Amino acid sequence: MLFVDSTEPAEIEAIFAWGVVRGVTTNPLIYARESGASDLSERVRAILAVSSGPVSVELTSEDEAGMLAEADRYVGWDAERVTIKVPFSEMGLRVTHQLKSQGVRCNVTCTMSFNQAYLAAQTGADFVSIFSGRVRDIGYDARHVISETRAQFDREGLDSRIIVGSIRHLMDVNEALSAGAHIVTVTPQILRKMLHHPKTDEAIEQFNEAWRNRG
Ligand code: E4P
Repeated sequence: MLFVDSTEPAEIEAIFAWGVVRGVTTNPLIYARESGASDLSERVRAILAVSSGPVSVELTSEDEAGMLAEADRYVGWDAERVTIKVPFSEMGLRVTHQLKSQGVRCNVTCTMSFNQAYLAAQTGADFVSIFSGRVRDIGYDARHVISETRAQFDREGLDSRIIVGSIRHLMDVNEALSAGAHIVTVTPQILRKMLHHPKTDEAIEQFNEAWRNRG
C-alpha cells in the first residue's frame, strides 16, 4: 500500500485523484520546507479535505506534558483520521502508551532498527515508521531491518503496520515492499517518477501514430 509524504494540499489532491494512495504522512521538516510559517491547523484541515485515510501529524513538543497537550489539540481536528506521529524515544514510548490508552491513533516515527520498531509495536501503536534512506546513510541495509521487523510482527500477531519512509529513489519503493513493508510513504516527486517508462511512451506513441495515419 502507498501513502503520500507531503504537506502540499494541491499535490496531495492531485495524487489522490490517481486512486493509488491510502493515507498521508507529514513531518516538521517537510512542513517547514513546503509550508513555511503557514498555520498548522489550517494546513492539516486542508490536507484532510482533499485526502482520505489516516493523516499523520508529528508532535514537536520536547516534554511529555507538552506532547500530550499537542496531541489532544491535533486529535480535535479529526479524531478518526488524525494520527499522532510520536518521535521514537523513551519519552515517546510513554506518550504513545498514554495516547493508546485513550484510543488515539499513533504512528511511532524515526525508528531505524529492529529493536526500536519492536519496542514501538509493543505499545500498540497503529503504525511504526522505519526510515529507509536514513538507515542507508550510515551504511546499513534497510531491507534487513524491514524484513526482520515484519517477520516478528507476523510471528507475534502484532497489529502495528510498518510504514517505510525516507524514500530517496524508485528502487527504495520496490525494495521496501518486497522486504515486507505494509505501507511505503512516498513524496509526490517520486510517485510521479514511478509513472514513467520509456518503452511505455514509445508503445503509446506508436499506437497513437498508427491510429492518426490509418486508412
Ligand atoms: C515518513 O513518515 C517521513 O515523513 C519521511 O519519509 C522522512 O524522510 P526523510 O529522511 O527524507 O526526512
